Amino acid sequence: MAAHNQASNLTFGCVAALQVVKARDASARRVKMAAVESGLAGVQLTKVRPGADVLKRAKRKSVVFQAVFTESEPEVNVANDISQEIIGAESQYFVQTYARSPVVFVSGKGCKLYDVEGNEYLDMTAGIAVNALGHGDPTWVKAVTEQAGKLAHVSNLFHTVPQVKLAERLVRSSFADRVFMVNSGTEANEAAIKFARKYHYALAKSNGDTAQGATELVAFTNGFHGRTLGALSLTSKIQYRTPFEPLVPGASFVNFGDLEATREIVAGKTAAVFVEPLQGEGGICPATASFLRGLRELCDETGTLLVFDEIQCGLGRTGRLWAHETYDVRPDIMTLAKPLAGGLPIGAVLVTDRVASSIAAGDHGSTFAGGPLVCHAALAVLDRIQAPGFLESVAEKGAYLKSQLNERLGKNSHVKEVRGEGLLVGIQLDVPASPLVASALKEKLLILTAGKGDVVRLAPPLIISKQEIDQAVDILVKCMPSLK
Ligand SMILES: Cc1ncc(COP(=O)(O)O)c(C=O)c1O
Repeated sequence: MAAHNQASNLTFGCVAALQVVKARDASARRVKMAAVESGLAGVQLTKVRPGADVLKRAKRKSVVFQAVFTESEPEVNVANDISQEIIGAESQYFVQTYARSPVVFVSGKGCKLYDVEGNEYLDMTAGIAVNALGHGDPTWVKAVTEQAGKLAHVSNLFHTVPQVKLAERLVRSSFADRVFMVNSGTEANEAAIKFARKYHYALAKSNGDTAQGATELVAFTNGFHGRTLGALSLTSKIQYRTPFEPLVPGASFVNFGDLEATREIVAGKTAAVFVEPLQGEGGICPATASFLRGLRELCDETGTLLVFDEIQCGLGRTGRLWAHETYDVRPDIMTLAKPLAGGLPIGAVLVTDRVASSIAAGDHGSTFAGGPLVCHAALAVLDRIQAPGFLESVAEKGAYLKSQLNERLGKNSHVKEVRGEGLLVGIQLDVPASPLVASALKEKLLILTAGKGDVVRLAPPLIISKQEIDQAVDILVKCMPSLK
């Protein structure tokens, strides 16, 4: 539904018109809502006569909107009216957990998003590192629509082809021997916690031990592992945790990168150590090779499982398929989610046989997880990411982005550091980044924050062009004076 694509407008005009007919109440508001749903509003539907009765005209199909929207007085500006209406409705009906920007998106293509007014935005967020192939990628759309027409969901009581193919692909592409599928990042970490506990439980039982086995967990400051209670127990940000305590007992935090302090805490009672090889939410902070290698050694010494959370940094974002490849260290468990199905909800837990052998039927499960639709979409994403030259291009574009940022922003007194790997890049500021985010939005550039709100996070679709990188850097340079 490309709002910028004039050629497709008449077709979508039909769709929107039919929706109006079904509504049996062709008020101006419903015409507008139908137009928004069909991604048309920003292009052709600029005016509506309030209360216009379009029922009869709707039957004339593609001429409907011309007829409706060329009506004369009294007229309403659909554009602002629609976004205000939707933003207002969100604040009325939605549980207020998100601080959303005042923009309503209706369509996207590549690295561009389009709002109801038809404004074009350059997307350097990719839905927070989700839309690896950008928006509306034709091969992804084809995979999703074909599979949706064939089979979207079957319970995990049965086998499906895409699920097995995806598991095989992930195993063949990684350290892992087996895969468990879930629906999100936090669920992937929940499953990893359960698997780690079950592994130690089974180990204790096999040793004739009547006790539970190791149950404790270790994670790191500035790490982010999710918002459900288990994953939240491993997420360090205090304001995310405090209102929901008590969390899962036995979780401790160590300063990210401090191997000596980790040594003091990790022991036989520790079931698993959770770490992001490149912290995302925490501020785009890469681990050092010696830290990750030291963790591996420590876990081997103590019988603890090492879990890499690659939910944000994995699957090509760093210019390698897995972020941990940079360090030449292998985990026992790795969690994935965000970009895996290119925008559909999915997560995966990759494990070695040693871990998998302790898991029995009924230990864990999920109704939706690993359904044929999402798995087929994920295979399409992996086909692209693993195509020759793709990862190299991510690495090259990432290096270009960092060099441009350093060159053009590096001398700004508020910029302390530009860091990151591949197309996960952070600009460390000495002030809050939010004014820059707001100013960039006005200039139609979408960026994120991270860390303590003092890091600008850039995580564009992996298919971004150098020209789009230049455009993003131009806008950032222009917006820097917003920082006080
Ligand atoms: C490293 C990491 N782990 C876990 C999560 C949680 O993923 P989700 O929001 O899909 O539950 C996130 C989300 O930002 C993440 O960045």
